[in-house]
Amino acid sequence: MSEDNNSNFSWRIFYKNFNHLKDGSSNDFNKKSYDDLDKPQDFNHKPFKGSKDKESDLYLTDDDFSLEDNGGSFESRFHDDSWDSFLDEDSFESSFDNSFNGNFSKGTSFESSFGDSSLEDDSVKTTFPDGDIIKDGLPGDNHLDGKFSSIYSVKNQGFTLKEKTLLNNIRNQLVDLAINNKETKEIARFDDIKDMLKLSLDGSTSEEYINDLSRRFYEYINGYGIINPLVNNDDLEEIMVIGSNKPVYVYHRNYGMVKTDIYFNDDEEIIRLIDSIARANHRRFDSESPIFDGKLKDGSRVNGTLPPISADGPTLTIRKFRKDPFTIIDLIKNNTLNSEIAAFLWLCIDGLGVRPSNIIISGGTSSGKTTLLNALAALINPKERIVTIEDTLELQIPHDHIVRMETRLANIEGKGEINMDSLVKNALRQRPDRIIVGEVRGSEAITLFTALNTGHSGFGTLHANSGRETITRLINPPMNVPKIMISAIDFILIEKRIYLPDGVNYRRLTELNEVVGMEEGTIQLNKLFIWNPLNDSFKNMSLSSKTLEKLEDFSGLNYKNLEDEIKRRKLVFDIMAKNNLRSNKVLTKMVKMYYINSDRVLRDLSSI
Ligand SMILES: Nc1ncnc2c1ncn2[C@@H]1O[C@H](COP(=O)(O)OP(=O)(O)O)[C@@H](O)[C@H]1O
Ligand SMILES: [Mg+2]
Repeated sequence: MSEDNNSNFSWRIFYKNFNHLKDGSSNDFNKKSYDDLDKPQDFNHKPFKGSKDKESDLYLTDDDFSLEDNGGSFESRFHDDSWDSFLDEDSFESSFDNSFNGNFSKGTSFESSFGDSSLEDDSVKTTFPDGDIIKDGLPGDNHLDGKFSSIYSVKNQGFTLKEKTLLNNIRNQLVDLAINNKETKEIARFDDIKDMLKLSLDGSTSEEYINDLSRRFYEYINGYGIINPLVNNDDLEEIMVIGSNKPVYVYHRNYGMVKTDIYFNDDEEIIRLIDSIARANHRRFDSESPIFDGKLKDGSRVNGTLPPISADGPTLTIRKFRKDPFTIIDLIKNNTLNSEIAAFLWLCIDGLGVRPSNIIISGGTSSGKTTLLNALAALINPKERIVTIEDTLELQIPHDHIVRMETRLANIEGKGEINMDSLVKNALRQRPDRIIVGEVRGSEAITLFTALNTGHSGFGTLHANSGRETITRLINPPMNVPKIMISAIDFILIEKRIYLPDGVNYRRLTELNEVVGMEEGTIQLNKLFIWNPLNDSFKNMSLSSKTLEKLEDFSGLNYKNLEDEIKRRKLVFDIMAKNNLRSNKVLTKMVKMYYINSDRVLRDLSSI
């Protein structure tokens, strides 16, 4: 049982950070904050700058580490993270950077919001605006049946016949150049392209045209050809090529499914593109292997098919990897869940360091399971060691101490496969505090549940549509988890993709189930929250949570104390959401600081 997780190490930290709960004497600040909860509009809206004057409030002092016997523990390592960096000006993103306000960011240059270079996209980026939504279709577009009345237009992507000839010449010249220089690097240089172009064009050609064409050639050659601008736009969830002479479709976050004005002229061009992606994945794509599954350099998932498997021509489907991942604040802001549920989950995930909860997130394809898992995992105490296991690296948890593992398919000779189960087994030898399994679907489930039953904590996602169905799937083949082990999970969250007639989809956390134990051979679920589609809100369905009751036993706090702590965390999320403090950077800092001194985080936030 996960109750075995109890260990004494956390008490020290616990007392230090949650003193206000233990002695029941919430300080004035807390009291004020609770009173304010009902009227969040009362938050003083002064810019944060002013509070920098209060020097003494902004830096951790020795007093903050004064609880005796912290034995050089992890807290002191944060000593130099000056406090004001938690809310520095970078934190306040302009609303234009945010895709949730209906604005649609056209720039395609992104920086990964946290410093893991392996997550950074080294595909070709551009700072030029690459595409835009044009409402009501293109002039002359007669496919205006309502559904596709918007079109995603990519400027200047098509090449004229003359430009195509130039492009081919330049490609050949680049190959020669690479051979001459014995270069192995695959990226062609922008300047080389521009020089070659200048030489091929006559002197009267405008500089502007040369620059523009060089850029398009550069992107075409180094990136993903004519769909490169789509690959670069973080607002697109999916890119779909369904054959030549048909528009490429995209699924846009704010507009739903839309056509683009990009067309492949012939099947060969599509096949060449898929083939080049397949080669970069060390795989083949030809009549013998007509189905390709792999990744782009940025981690986006790619699927390609060839005729006759796909009847009407080659297809390419790219499920885009979000370069700036959703944070819990984003999900609160777009109402995937509310701040109360988020605060409750945060407390349970953290378990005050003494009893962390185990969570399964279920839902259909593309319902947002991985995204929610990612956002919740970001709330884990930074002192913990996380091991993640995935079929395709998708999780982007902004955590320092993390080991990411990925399964491997067998090679062409059928050897070398590393599956989920071996990775979960291996994770147990890596001394994890948390094991996070991207998608549980096979025999690894038993290994995972064995781990959860022996004191590890973990998260995972699973393909199922309800709490009941999740359990049915877990206890039946191919997962075969013994029923008795199921109660190692504390929560089953259900996420749904809600389809609306306008073609734009929403994700909602539709159920929050608590696993409360077994009765007469049936696993009992307690629905804590459900989503109400009538008014798009979340309803609390239960008076008490079994998980909080267990946490009472482990922490020595009473239920009221825990509820107060949830209110405090809710307040943190509310203020952050209200002020659009949504980036991974600021959230990570907040979480780090909250575990050190939660009062201070609240004080800083309340001064915004
Ligand atoms: N809560 C959400 N709000 C808006 N978009 C979301 C949300 N969750 C996921 N998405 C988007 O939906 C797509 C699929 O999400 P993902 O988390 O990979 O789904 P799943 O793991 O269920 O297949 C991604 O493009 C993602 O950015
Ligand atoms: Mg997923």
